[in-house]
Parts: sequence; C-alpha cells; structure tokens
Amino acid sequence: MSRRAKILGTGLYVPPDVITNFDLEKMVDTSDEWIVGRTGIRERRFVNGETAASDIALEASRMALKAADTDPEELDLIILGTVTPDYVFPATACVLQDLLGAHNAAAFDLSAGCSGLLYGINVATQFVETGKCKKVLCVGVETLSKILDMTDRNTCVLFGDGAGVAVVGESPDDAGILSTYMKADGNLVKMLYLPGGGSRNPATHETIDARMHYIKMEGREVFKIAVRMMVEASNKVLDEAGYSGKDVDVLIPHQANVRIMEAVAKRIGVPREKVYVNVDKYGNTSAATIGLAMGEAVRDGTIKPGHLVLLVAFGAGFTWAGTLIRWS
Ligand code: ACO
Repeated sequence: MSRRAKILGTGLYVPPDVITNFDLEKMVDTSDEWIVGRTGIRERRFVNGETAASDIALEASRMALKAADTDPEELDLIILGTVTPDYVFPATACVLQDLLGAHNAAAFDLSAGCSGLLYGINVATQFVETGKCKKVLCVGVETLSKILDMTDRNTCVLFGDGAGVAVVGESPDDAGILSTYMKADGNLVKMLYLPGGGSRNPATHETIDARMHYIKMEGREVFKIAVRMMVEASNKVLDEAGYSGKDVDVLIPHQANVRIMEAVAKRIGVPREKVYVNVDKYGNTSAATIGLAMGEAVRDGTIKPGHLVLLVAFGAGFTWAGTLIRWS
C-alpha cells in the first residue's frame, strides 16, 4: 500500500449540564448503587432544550481542526455519525459544513448507531488511502437526551450527550491506521431502535401517545451480542496487522458499560489497566463515545506516540467495527 491514513487531530465536547444518578433517583425507580454496579455510570451530560447535534458537533470539530492544524477550507469531506440528527433531512453534516465554513467539503451523515464514528473513520481511511481525499472530518455526535423516555428506567439511566471528532489525513510515514473492519447484522433491528418518526411509523398523535419516539432496547440480549461482536472486530484488525491483544497499549472500546468493556478486554487478552474508561462521567453517548474517550486519552497523556491503539465499537443495526492505529 502506497499511502497510509492517520488521525491528524482529535476534538471533544460535552454540554455543561451534569445529571447524576441521584438526580435520576428522583425521576424513576432506580438507585445510584444499581446504576454504578450494573454499568459503571455515575453521571452524564444533557444538552438544554434549544441545543441540537450540530451545535455540539461544531465545538468538538473546531477543537479537532485546531489540533490537526487544519483550516476548514482544507476539508474534502465531512462524515457525521449520529442517531439524533438536527432534522430527518438534510444531513447534519451539511449543517455543520456551513457552520464551520468548510466550503470545499462534501458532506453526509452515516447511520451506524454507536459504531458511527468508527464506521466514519474507516470510510475516511479508504478515501485517504486511494488519494481521493486529503483531509476528512469524522464526527460522532449525539443528543440522546432528546429521545430518552424519562419514565423508562431500563434505558433512561444509560445514555448521555456529547461529540467526538477525528480529522483523518495522509500519514507522512508508515505509522497511522494499520487495519480496519466493519460488519453488520440486520436480523435483530428491533433489539435497539426508535420505532416512530420514519416511513414505517410516521409521526401521528397515535405514535406519540404510544411513546414510539423514544429509544427501545432489550438490554440483556444487546449485552451478550455486543461482547461477542466487539471481540470479533478486535481480533480481525489485530490479525490483519499481525498483532495480538498483548501488543495493545491502549484499548478504547465503545463506552456503553464497564462490564462489556472488561469482558471484551479479557477475551482478547488486553489487561484491564490498558482499557480507557470514561463512561462513569458521560454515560453511553452512542456514536460520540469513542471520540470522547480518544480525545481525552490524547490530552491526558494515556495515548502516546508509538502506541498501538485499538478502537472497537458495537451499535444499533446491529453494526460493529474495529480500527487499529500505530499512533503518531
Ligand atoms: N434501576 C433499577 N433496576 C433496574 C433498572 C434501573 N435503572 N433497569 C432495570 N432494572 C431492573 C430490571 O427491571 C430487572 O428487574 P427484574 O429482574 O425484576 O425484571 C433487573 O433490574 C435486572 O435487569 P437485567 O436486564 O437483567 O440487568 P442487567 O444486569 O442485564 O443490566 C443493562 C441491564 C445495564 C441494561 C445491561 O443489560 C446492559 O448494559 N446491556 C447493554 C445495553 C447497552 O449498553 N446498550 C447500549 C446501547 S448498545 C450499545 O451501546 C452498543
């Protein structure tokens, strides 16, 4: 392969309003002890009523562009992963393109649930490797608080809002994105979905009364499948690049639940201390989790040049993906 892609810079943003488990205890029949014990989550951030996905994506994108020393006009493409777009159409990526002044970029949204950012990074990698694009802005952003049923304790305690961004561009050397993997299985769509508002169940008074515009999830089943598929994606990218779990310096799994992350790490042979965890502070921010974790890990010194960094995701669809990076 003649050209290699790398992550030129990262950015992250979470809204300022903190919702603790104790706040949720006042809304549904739950407890801090249950939430921490089952998920590891202590608090999450929620946007206010007026804030949309593009607003928080803008903050994280500006940070990533600065870190990548990239002018918005240099971007060839914006790929934005979300399940909570500003509008059903057009794409939130187009809204963001205008807000950033990225006048030379094509822009599209990508719907891959919690795998949204990794799907985006993996697609961007192909465009950079072929020489079609020099710089691609990959965004994972969610305002899940807008689609949470705050009367359903099975789901409302799990999720939060945030944005994580990576600028993908050409690597000057052999370091960078070593291998990528993406897969899907649409057989189990209804285990994690939002039934209302699409062409299957367009918004009516009846769909609203039936609470169809909120996340529905079979948590226990999702848990088991998530572990299996994240292990598969991890092993695929490690094998392809000629590595194994013991070579990984930093594992950044999708931040849904500490127990899922620990189970994945154990099965692929990565010690617990190499797993980056910030789900305690932000909850599950779906497409944003890996960007929030990677952005923090770069800034707090966990990820260092030369490190082998494994990103792995699983999300609604179901979709799953892995990306292996020699950090530079
Ligand atoms: N507070 C108190 N009790 C609760 C709560 C709550 N917030 N939510 C559920 N319970 C109860 C259930 O009603 C159930 O009670 P029952 O036995 O009387 O029926 C009991 O707790 C146990 O429920 P389980 O579903 O067995 O609990 P489990 O250990 O599986 O944990 C959880 C539930 C946290 C949802 C877990 O299954 C999970 O994390 N699944 C993965 C789902 C996930 O993270 N999805 C995110 C999207 S997917 C993704 O990001 C890839």
